[in-house]
Amino acid sequence: MDQYAVWGNPIAQSKSPLIHRRFAEQCGQTLDYVAMLGDEQNFEQQLRDFFAAGAKGCNITAPFKERAFRLADAHSERCLSAEACNTLKRLDDGSLYADNTDGAGLVSDLQRLNWLKPQQSVLILGAGGATKGVLLPLLQAQQNITIANRTLSKAQELAEKFAPYGKLRAVEISAVPQQKFDLIINATSLGLQGKTVDLDERILQQAGAVYDMQYAKDTDTPFIALCKRLGVAQTCDGFGMLVGQAAHSFYLWRGVMPDVAPLLNGL
Ligand code: ATR
Repeated sequence: MDQYAVWGNPIAQSKSPLIHRRFAEQCGQTLDYVAMLGDEQNFEQQLRDFFAAGAKGCNITAPFKERAFRLADAHSERCLSAEACNTLKRLDDGSLYADNTDGAGLVSDLQRLNWLKPQQSVLILGAGGATKGVLLPLLQAQQNITIANRTLSKAQELAEKFAPYGKLRAVEISAVPQQKFDLIINATSLGLQGKTVDLDERILQQAGAVYDMQYAKDTDTPFIALCKRLGVAQTCDGFGMLVGQAAHSFYLWRGVMPDVAPLLNGL
C-alpha cells in the first residue's frame, strides 16, 4: 500500500491522518497515512529513511518546514516563494519534489466563503513564516495587500520580495491606516499564547470580513472571539485552510482533487 505521513514535533494533535484517510475513502484510493514524530537532531536522516523505505510522500508541519525545504531536490514556484515546504512528493527517479499548499488552501477557503473579490484590500497581520507561505497565491488572486507587523523591517522585507507579483505595502501594526479593509487575515502566532494582536479596534470593526489562519477545537480563537465582541459580522477560523491545504497535497500526490465539504461539515 502506498505510504504517506505527516512529520512534525509535537504531532499527536495533528488532524492530517484523519483528513487524508477520509479523502482516500471519498476518492476510492488505497493508501496509508500516519503521524510521525520528527526528531530535532535527526530529522533529515528520518526523512531519508522514510523515503528509502518506499514512502510516496509526506506533509511537513512545525518546526520542520524550512528544513524540509532545504532537503528537497526540486521545488514548485509557490514553495520557492514561501521558502518553506509543507508537502514532499517522491518522484519516479527517487528525487524529492517540494511544494507548499498552505496558500492554495487559504485561497480555496476564501473562495468557499465567497470572500475573494479581485482587487479588494486585504490587511495581513504578521510577517513571519505563515505570511510568507500565503503571499504568492493571494497576490495571484489579485488581492491588494497591506502587511502589518510589530517589527516593521520584517514586513518591509516581504513587501520588497513580493513586489514583482502584485500590489503590496508594509506598515507597522501601530500605524495601520484608518480605512475599511475588505478582508483582515490574522497570520501572527499570538493565538497560541491565548493573546490577540495590538491593533486599533476601530480597524477591526470596519472590516468587511475577518479570517484567522489559526483554529481552535470546539471554541473561538482569541482573535475571532475579539472580532465577534467588536461586532464584526463575518468571521472564520483556519480550519477550512487546514482541510484545503490537505486537499491540494492530496491532489499533488494522487492526481485527484477531493471534495472538502464533507470534512468541513463532519469533523
Ligand atoms: P509563524 O511561522 O507562525 O509565522 P513566526 O515566523 O515566528 O511564526 O512569526 C510570528 C509572527 O507573529 C510575526 O509576525 C511576529 O511579529 P514580529 O515579527 O514583530 O516578531 C508576530 N508576533 C509574535 N508575537 C507577537 C506579539 N507579542 N505582538 C505582536 N506580534 C507578534
